[in-house]
Amino acid sequence: MSVRCVIGVQWGDEGKGKIVDLLAEESDVVVRYQGGGNAGHTVVVGKEKFVLHLIPSGILHGRQCIVGNGVVLEPEQLFAEMAELERKGIRVKGHLLVSDRANVVFPYHKAVDRAGEVKRGITKIGTTGRGIGPCYADKYARSGIRVVDLYDAKLFAERLKTNVEEKNYLLAGMGAETLDYAQILEQYTAYARKLKPFVADTTTIVNDAIDHKKRVLFEAAQGALLDIDHGTYPYVTSSNSDATGLSSGAGVPPGCVRDVIGVAKAYTTRVGSGPFPTELEDGIGERIRQIGHEFGSTTGRPRRTGWFDLVGCRHAIRTSGVTELAITKLDVLDGFDTVRICTGYKVGRKTITTFPADLSSLENAKPIYKDVRGWGATTSARKLVDLPPEARAYLRLLERELNCVVSMVSVGPERRQTVLTGGKL
Ligand code: GDP
Ligand code: IMO
Ligand code: MG
Repeated sequence: MSVRCVIGVQWGDEGKGKIVDLLAEESDVVVRYQGGGNAGHTVVVGKEKFVLHLIPSGILHGRQCIVGNGVVLEPEQLFAEMAELERKGIRVKGHLLVSDRANVVFPYHKAVDRAGEVKRGITKIGTTGRGIGPCYADKYARSGIRVVDLYDAKLFAERLKTNVEEKNYLLAGMGAETLDYAQILEQYTAYARKLKPFVADTTTIVNDAIDHKKRVLFEAAQGALLDIDHGTYPYVTSSNSDATGLSSGAGVPPGCVRDVIGVAKAYTTRVGSGPFPTELEDGIGERIRQIGHEFGSTTGRPRRTGWFDLVGCRHAIRTSGVTELAITKLDVLDGFDTVRICTGYKVGRKTITTFPADLSSLENAKPIYKDVRGWGATTSARKLVDLPPEARAYLRLLERELNCVVSMVSVGPERRQTVLTGGKL
């Protein structure tokens, strides 16, 4: 109970922000451990809507929030987010700490990200353009610049110079504009000064919190199917966005988390390119997009929509050891005569129920569907008994097929639009 993690078990945007916000109320510390400004976590409080990119969603409850070492941090974006929160009356100072070990995103990462996408043409990944892939690439190539390195003037200037030269060479080769070293040095020296009060050895802080039996909540970004190792490679993000990333991304022992809450929509969405076996490119898909407002929180792009995919979800549950599920956006399917759920894939003459690694199988997978009866309205449900029997039957089917208890059901974007099942669907 005291150390928990929230992850998405689809391709992102499952509603993690809302669930983390709810669980933050009963947490002391909330920690982001991977990803960066590519994330967009929405929390709706009354009439106010907050979209968080780098800062953990626990900030709205005034919790101690931590941006862990596994996150790639763009200072400009962090400052913009802080200012926006403060403007809306949310206190950030005194509640936010940033790991001294986190790698920093520089303008050349964004430039290389964007130029790379142009170069890939029709095979582009559809990235958010926030420099995520190139920043993680530098981290693993050991040429990255971490937060702590910003405060070693000589090291910072030298490494930045090398990096800008290298990236300019690459950018020129790709026909993109090159960048000015002196300008970046000046800009980031100023950022470093502004960031200083927030920088800490968060690894020690999080471990101390665990040792002192504080309630710690880890917040993932993206979703398990976008995970660099277990997702639909290469159409993934560049970090371990499932629960496996939390140990390295926060500096905590792998076994410290008891409860892993997997968040899934009652259907599926994906933004960007890549295989999506249950995608609906018809009127039903459009209906889900419109009712569910399925447009990216970070880029505004229309999200691709489709039916619930048990195959992908089972894979996510197993690789992350998900112990309970939060099903969101059930209300978006209100009023459908029939709701479909994919139980397996037909690939050629073979039927498969495990998530394949190869793109060709995923791209050619024909979903095998089970149809269930639709239901009426769910948006005003607050207790289990308020949910229509058909909706409960759908949730029970998910529980059975996924062999995982559904502990929370979300029927609208607001905090109160939530049903706690008590594990008794
Ligand atoms: P995240 O990235 O996983 O945090 O999800 P996003 O914030 O990108 O996308 C989820 C969207 O759905 C946001 O606009 C939420 O306000 C909204 N949302 C969350 N839960 C529900 C729900 O149960 N019903 C409806 N209609 N909207 C929801
Ligand atoms: P949240 O945390 C949905 C997708 C991009 C692209 C791929 C790689 O809000 O769920 P990147 O910029 O990471 O290199 O892009 O990953 N992607 C997301 N899709 N939700 C997200 O975050 C995403 N973050 C990245 O669309 O397909
Ligand atoms: Mg999102």
